[in-house]
Amino acid sequence: MAYQMRDKTSILIAGNHGTEEAVRREQPDARLVGVLQDLALVEYVAAEVPIDELVIDPNISPRGETLEQWIGRFNNVYPDVYVRIAGQSKRLDWQEADNIPARVVTSQTIVVWSPKGGVGKTFLATNLACATAMITKGNSALLDLDIYSGDVSTYLDLADEPTITQMLPALMSLRPDGLDKYVQRHAPSGLSVICGPQRLELSNLVNVEHIKNIIGLAEKRWGLVYIDTSPDISSDIVGECIEAASTLILVTTQDVCALKQVKTALGILKKIGISDTSIFLVLNRCVEDSPIPKRKVEEYLDKRLVAAIPDDRKTVEKSIFQGKPVVLFGKTEISASLWDLVSAISPGLPVPEREKKQGKSKRRRLW
Ligand SMILES: Nc1ncnc2c1ncn2[C@@H]1O[C@H](COP(=O)(O)OP(=O)(O)OP(=O)(O)O)[C@@H](O)[C@H]1O
Ligand SMILES: [Mg+2]
Repeated sequence: MAYQMRDKTSILIAGNHGTEEAVRREQPDARLVGVLQDLALVEYVAAEVPIDELVIDPNISPRGETLEQWIGRFNNVYPDVYVRIAGQSKRLDWQEADNIPARVVTSQTIVVWSPKGGVGKTFLATNLACATAMITKGNSALLDLDIYSGDVSTYLDLADEPTITQMLPALMSLRPDGLDKYVQRHAPSGLSVICGPQRLELSNLVNVEHIKNIIGLAEKRWGLVYIDTSPDISSDIVGECIEAASTLILVTTQDVCALKQVKTALGILKKIGISDTSIFLVLNRCVEDSPIPKRKVEEYLDKRLVAAIPDDRKTVEKSIFQGKPVVLFGKTEISASLWDLVSAISPGLPVPEREKKQGKSKRRRLW
């Protein structure tokens, strides 16, 4: 159905001040019901106040579903409300929503965890989060919630401060955009990073309630939130992170001890009700001539691998030493496999073709 102007159309905006100005310019006679940045709030308001039209800023992301799904749901409940993307004059419904730019299709909390230490959690979290930040033009964050031994600031060559510690006194009254004051910006990717405490005695100040609040605020502030964790399965903080995850990247290597611990962890995750589909099993430091090849890893864990990231000691060590994530600096097999993993984790994100895996002959060496 073609979009038609109505007399005194009541419009609700899901967007910001810019969207509001654009709508006012396009429809000066319309009555603006409100401007909201959260689609959950839009649903609430639509239930309370009669509206004719909903205009959505294409940068807004719903939580836990794609924008297509959200619009489909909204259309079902409010079939008489015109839904359109700001800047377009066409009604959107479930069937037509394919035209929405890919960068808005997802909003996720992605927790990188393993019960085993040293398997590459921080390496993966920093690289995946940076790649995602580049694609989303900065609508991504990385929270270093390995509170006692966080390494994110080293991996990304960030400053000592601010860290999560500075945020604690203000946390209760903080709004989502207030997080910006405590964030370090990773300039090459545009990633926002909340770094872990610098000293052990400061780590003790962080409790599980803080973690809950910080994750909640971050989820409202950024579309994609990555979280790096400690391997301690008994930690309440790790428990809180796992609970908050919409996607849990479970990291293993081909090491027998790692595999045993991951198998036990999979059993525990199942017991506490974590959906198997939200668990993405990633094999890091994969070597082809291991006595436990990929196929055996899958058999032993009774779960399919989402990705196998190759072992490339030289490249990875150099990248950590220089504080330069491999996804941003150079084309190697390992960076291509990480970009592929980004696509697998967030299928709606438009990963540049050139970053994906290509034939061996086309790969160039890092630096
Ligand atoms: N794909 C890889 N190829 C080669 N080396 C790697 C790879 N991934 C990680 N490493 C190396 O493994 C080491 C541990 O990585 P990382 O710090 O990311 O592990 P972690 O799981 O975060 O450890 P921790 O449990 O201590 O937090 C690093 O020194 C890094 O150089
Ligand atoms: Mg780590």
